[in-house]
Amino acid sequence: MDAAPFPVGRPRRLRRTAALRDLVAQTRLHPRDLVLPMFLKEGLAEAAPISSMPGVLQHSRESLRKAAAEAVHAGIGGLMLFGVPTAKDAVGSGASDPDGILNVAIRDVVSEVGDATVVMADLCLDEFTDHGHCGVLREDGAVDNDATLVRYAEMGLAQSEAGAHMLGLSGMMDGQVGFVRSALDKAGHTDTALLAYAAKYTSAFYGPFRDAVESSLQGDRRTYQQDPRGLDEALREVELDIAEGADLVMVKPALPYLDVLRRVADVSALAGVPVAAYQVSGELAMAEAAFANGWLDRERTVLETLTSIRRAGAGVILTYWAVEAARLLRAQDGERA
Ligand code: PBG
Repeated sequence: MDAAPFPVGRPRRLRRTAALRDLVAQTRLHPRDLVLPMFLKEGLAEAAPISSMPGVLQHSRESLRKAAAEAVHAGIGGLMLFGVPTAKDAVGSGASDPDGILNVAIRDVVSEVGDATVVMADLCLDEFTDHGHCGVLREDGAVDNDATLVRYAEMGLAQSEAGAHMLGLSGMMDGQVGFVRSALDKAGHTDTALLAYAAKYTSAFYGPFRDAVESSLQGDRRTYQQDPRGLDEALREVELDIAEGADLVMVKPALPYLDVLRRVADVSALAGVPVAAYQVSGELAMAEAAFANGWLDRERTVLETLTSIRRAGAGVILTYWAVEAARLLRAQDGERA
């Protein structure tokens, strides 16, 4: 048969070899884009598995230091630390105690890795409160926004004093970014950066995380986290957080909210603020269950999900697969070298 008589568009021309595909790839994923969330549990002698999060550990102090050093060696961009305390109370006292488990974790990790990666800490009360909510409660049981801001400022100062480079405000209280920013600035902590969980949805996908931190929550977080039915509201949250001084904004969860991520990325590009996305515990659990059954290919799924999150507009991705993905990316680069 003769060739087509007119110049046919042939997109397949650029797909023929790996070199061609690599040359024109629009989205590139790099180990430095990835941030590993890590859990330190108070009083643990040895690292312990989390059954709903295969491959993820509750660390002891010693294993946390070791894993942090390994993550740096793998070349990832940052670590996000969470604490699992033994004692909890109504106001989450452990969160602002310099000897509280999360502040201990920050000090340990900073002394281990220094400035070789970005050490981040979760700034939220839910791991530290006996009722499991992200803030302090009023007498009627509702979360008291403005009283919570005072606790966040105390917690943020303690984390900054412990040496965290960046604080991840994940509580979804109104005004949290501005309030913590001004408390830090007044205390001379002007260099501590704020990552705002700007668009954080109420999500079933946080379920396994609540096992990881042994959450005491009864009920849900619908009065402060966003309703999954909303999209424009995410843009409003982002605009407020940027106006209040957020250095980065985040969308969470990631894969079920790629439409939100795309819109947020467009808005924050105008303000010059980088965007992060959090591939949460339930996203991991879902895929791990499929891997365990042999239903999905592990390596391809890990990289495809992360690439899709990147393509939708995230410059930074929090993922429990950070170290594994970094190694896969390096191995792929090696194959092509
Ligand atoms: C709040 C916080 C949560 C997650 C990160 N920070 C839990 C929540 O909002 O209920 C969830 C992360 C995940 O599911 O992997 N401290």
